[in-house]
Amino acid sequence: MAARGEFSSRMAFVLAASGSAIGLGNIWGFPIKVASNGGGAFVFTYIVLTFLLAYPILMAELVIGRHAKSDTVKSLVKISEGSSKPLAYLTGYWGILTASLILSFYAIVAGWMIAFGLGSAGDLVGASGFSEWLTSFSLERNLLFVCLFYLLTIGIVANGVAAGIEKWSTRLMPMLIILIIALIAYISTQNGAAEGWRVYLTPEFDRVLNPDLLLSALGQAFFSLSLGVGTMMVYGSYISKSENLPRLGATVALMDIGIAFMAGLLVIPAMYVAQANGVTIYNEAGKLIDSDGLIFTVLPALFDTMGGAGIIVSLLFFTLMTIAAVTSSISMLEVPVAHAQESHDLPRKKAAWIVGVMILLVSLIIVFNFGALFGFVIDLTTKYSEPLIGLLFCIFAGWVWRRDALLKELQQGNPTMENTLFWKIWPTYVKVVCPLIVFAVFMHSFELLKI
Ligand code: TRP
Repeated sequence: MAARGEFSSRMAFVLAASGSAIGLGNIWGFPIKVASNGGGAFVFTYIVLTFLLAYPILMAELVIGRHAKSDTVKSLVKISEGSSKPLAYLTGYWGILTASLILSFYAIVAGWMIAFGLGSAGDLVGASGFSEWLTSFSLERNLLFVCLFYLLTIGIVANGVAAGIEKWSTRLMPMLIILIIALIAYISTQNGAAEGWRVYLTPEFDRVLNPDLLLSALGQAFFSLSLGVGTMMVYGSYISKSENLPRLGATVALMDIGIAFMAGLLVIPAMYVAQANGVTIYNEAGKLIDSDGLIFTVLPALFDTMGGAGIIVSLLFFTLMTIAAVTSSISMLEVPVAHAQESHDLPRKKAAWIVGVMILLVSLIIVFNFGALFGFVIDLTTKYSEPLIGLLFCIFAGWVWRRDALLKELQQGNPTMENTLFWKIWPTYVKVVCPLIVFAVFMHSFELLKI
């Protein structure tokens, strides 16, 4: 392999970047937020924010990454001059820290996916006591499976971008999509599904500007596209100069939104079906009883209605979810590992193990203090850090980086770039409008500004 890895083809990049974007955020996180924020209004706001904000910022990360072809800290430093260098270091390290913290909670949820997958395998062979243990919340189970998940993630990242990341992303994503579509078809035959779809697809527009909803949707838009930590910058650094970046970015964003939307089409009706079958989902105050566990309650309830076949479907579903989680977690670990490798000259394998084990220790702290830390770390990283770092990335793309160099990088791989709408709008948009949107959402959520 050359000094730096590079994706072997356009398809390989699209699959790897979509593999990063598509994960627990789409299938576990998105439905929870929809269900906690009154349905369609959240879906609407999330989609609008993805187009207006997340896609342009994704492009900023990809362009900077491909230009600098380095880890995040070095990339930001490379496009900075003189007085903005300290800000480059600050932003780069803040991103690395955030990526690591995101991995630390993500791996816990991913561990649950493994446990539920094994639980179905246990049901299949009649080991119901074992399955019961695997699918019930306990400290021991969480510890065991978070460690297992790290082994998977570190093992793949240790082997490098081209070898590790591509192999996993290329094959399994299509299977997940097919399974979700099949499950949506199945759920349409169940009592209660129609009510779920009504709630999901009818936005109450007067809720759209609710401060909590808006901040939540902002965080989700960033999280779902893996933005605001440098993941996409690092992946961008592995894209060849002959690729058309805006098109690549758009493909990834559309795939990501598409899968989240489909997951909602499945999970929200599944809640109503479960309710129709006597499972309690909301408490009397109308709040979700167990939001972290939402899909672990309603989907198994759905699989149960399928009789014997349900066990197989469940096994397949949780296996695919585990894989979707791995293709995302490797993209988180890649951020600190690329930095350790390139800025501190550690060999990749060593970097992956040292950094991976350090983040595992953080996960263990969260597992031991689950009630106090789990939700806190999620909010801290996704609602605050990611949008703020995203805002800083816009500042780098729009204000710090020399405009002619930015434009030149955009033109690479697309000789007719100058005729596109993207060329006319994006450079100014990412410089002025994107930071203003993030700023306005924050001001609004802290009730400092009434929109
Ligand atoms: N986007 C992924 C998901 O939806 C999670 C993810 C991967 C991520 N890499 C990231 C989130 C970097 C934030 C930052 O599951």
